[in-house]
Amino acid sequence: MRFTVALDGPAAAGKGTIGRAVAAHFGFAHLDTGLLYRAVGVQAMQDGRGVIDPDWAGEIARRLKPEDLGREGLRTRIAGQAASKVAALPEVRQALLAFQRDFARREGGAVLDGRDIGTVICPAAEAKLFVTASDEVRAQRRWKEEGGEYAAVLADLRARDRRDAERTDAPMVAAADAVLLDTSDLSIDAAVAEAVAHVQSRFDAVRG
Ligand code: C5P
Repeated sequence: MRFTVALDGPAAAGKGTIGRAVAAHFGFAHLDTGLLYRAVGVQAMQDGRGVIDPDWAGEIARRLKPEDLGREGLRTRIAGQAASKVAALPEVRQALLAFQRDFARREGGAVLDGRDIGTVICPAAEAKLFVTASDEVRAQRRWKEEGGEYAAVLADLRARDRRDAERTDAPMVAAADAVLLDTSDLSIDAAVAEAVAHVQSRFDAVRG
């Protein structure tokens, strides 16, 4: 059985939490695709001593191995910024395409969360959700996790959203056939319940 759930949306909208919960509910595998870009971004920054060389970033992406996704330091704000810089490079996106598509079509079902899953990676995904929340709610969530200065967290989030939405290659945008899930005023349980209900309805429709 193959069944792909595409979860897209901006940073800190709840995709990760929803993705893990949906995967657990249906017994599907889960891939946080942001980790791919984070791993490439961190490595490219380290190798370039803070400056990203596009050709080298492409090479790192081509050599990336699944175990690189478990490396430490990928969840930091600096790693997020580095990720969104390398994510704008077509050679990096191209190098990461096959791995994501293979994962999506694996036997037993898969949930992928990211920015371009429903539009570029899996345009034929059986279920698509675009998860969003207001800038302030998303910044509050990040700030509670990371601490620091709230204004800096909000500015960082907006800078990353802008870069992700305005790039020419695979910009962050809701697929025309994605269901919109705004988590601004929803508890985690309520957001997960809505996502599960949508995936279940698509599952029933596809599986007859
Ligand atoms: O989701 P996360 O915050 O970990 O993503 C880090 C960055 O990786 C995003 O800001 C975005 O630039 C990039 N990304 C992407 N396409 C994806 C997943 C993440 O461009 N499918």
